[in-house]
Amino acid sequence: TTVEWEAESYDMGGHDTYMHKEISEQPDAVDRVLRGRIDDRFSTVHLGGLNLDPREARSVRRIKILGCGTSYHAGQIGAQMIEELARIPSDAEPASEFRYRNPVVDPDTLYIAVSQSGETYDVLAAVQELKRKGARVLGVVNVVGSAIARETDGGVYVHAGPEVCVVSTKCFTNTVVAFALLALHLGRIRDLSVADGKRIIAGLRKLPAQIAEMLEGEAEIEKLAAEYAGAKSMMFIGRVRGYPVAREASLKLKEISYIHAEAYPASELKHGPLALIEPALPTVAIVPDDDLLDKNRAALEEIKARSGRILAVAHQVQEKADHTIVVPKNEVELDPILMGIPLQLFAYHTAKAMGRDIDKPRNLAKSVTVE
Ligand code: G6P
Repeated sequence: TTVEWEAESYDMGGHDTYMHKEISEQPDAVDRVLRGRIDDRFSTVHLGGLNLDPREARSVRRIKILGCGTSYHAGQIGAQMIEELARIPSDAEPASEFRYRNPVVDPDTLYIAVSQSGETYDVLAAVQELKRKGARVLGVVNVVGSAIARETDGGVYVHAGPEVCVVSTKCFTNTVVAFALLALHLGRIRDLSVADGKRIIAGLRKLPAQIAEMLEGEAEIEKLAAEYAGAKSMMFIGRVRGYPVAREASLKLKEISYIHAEAYPASELKHGPLALIEPALPTVAIVPDDDLLDKNRAALEEIKARSGRILAVAHQVQEKADHTIVVPKNEVELDPILMGIPLQLFAYHTAKAMGRDIDKPRNLAKSVTVE
């Protein structure tokens, strides 16, 4: 069965598309995923449905996150957050790949299935295979009571509310925030200090206002999109925390504008993609003010030296870039949450300038409930 939101039953509320409406709803959506979960007394969060007691949480040796499309990208960010805050080795893999490679199912690994709809067949099949082999599987799911929510042992609801546009925006952001909560929770059961717990909580609380602030810069992003809409292809680069952000931004652009886009770790440019750089291939670079800032700047220089156009998403104006979208600062661990948001608007305005059917891109479905 498919859980499809009845598009007609949700008002567009003055927006021209559901995508625009859903992007705009993000300050409220993020507020919802945080609500009632923060525990200031112990500088942690309560996740009521997790169904993982502290002793079990401490015995987890590894975390494997499974999802498809945008949910897979949210899982990649989640894996990094869990590693950073809880120091549990973690990684994400497309559920569709995982289930066809006879994976080693390890009793000390915690598996997490990520899905907006909770009905994606590849993710559901991976969950069923894991359960058959005796694994512990949690869900990070948006649709309450969906198949994946029912089949998992527990999990975290994302509370993004109904998402109608085929491509995911607010649910992506909320899923990443849900992972930040899970990472904080696991971290505080293990070695994350009270001070770091407080620091992350303060950062989380700032998110809704910071997202609202970024959305106010839409007119600027619309102008940038008009400038780049003529490109045949675009490169997206980032490092470590910025890399999955680059991947998701490139996916969003290709899904709705049909411009070819590829994402690369900035560190890998010299191992191949630099050969593509020329004025006709613009690069979108994720350049947070973190310990890799100088490395990222060096990559921008490499691109500029080959006359490539650069749009940077950064905490400060980048001299080597042709344009910079400046994003508000928060805690570095939360950078991926904020840095993706202007690029949702960038994809939206690029697709709009090109006259695309934004809510229903060709060949794609909101939930893929078949093999
Ligand atoms: C489809 C949609 C994508 C989505 C993916 C996973 O391919 O077009 O936007 O990211 O399915 O969907 P899920 O509901 O499992 O997050």
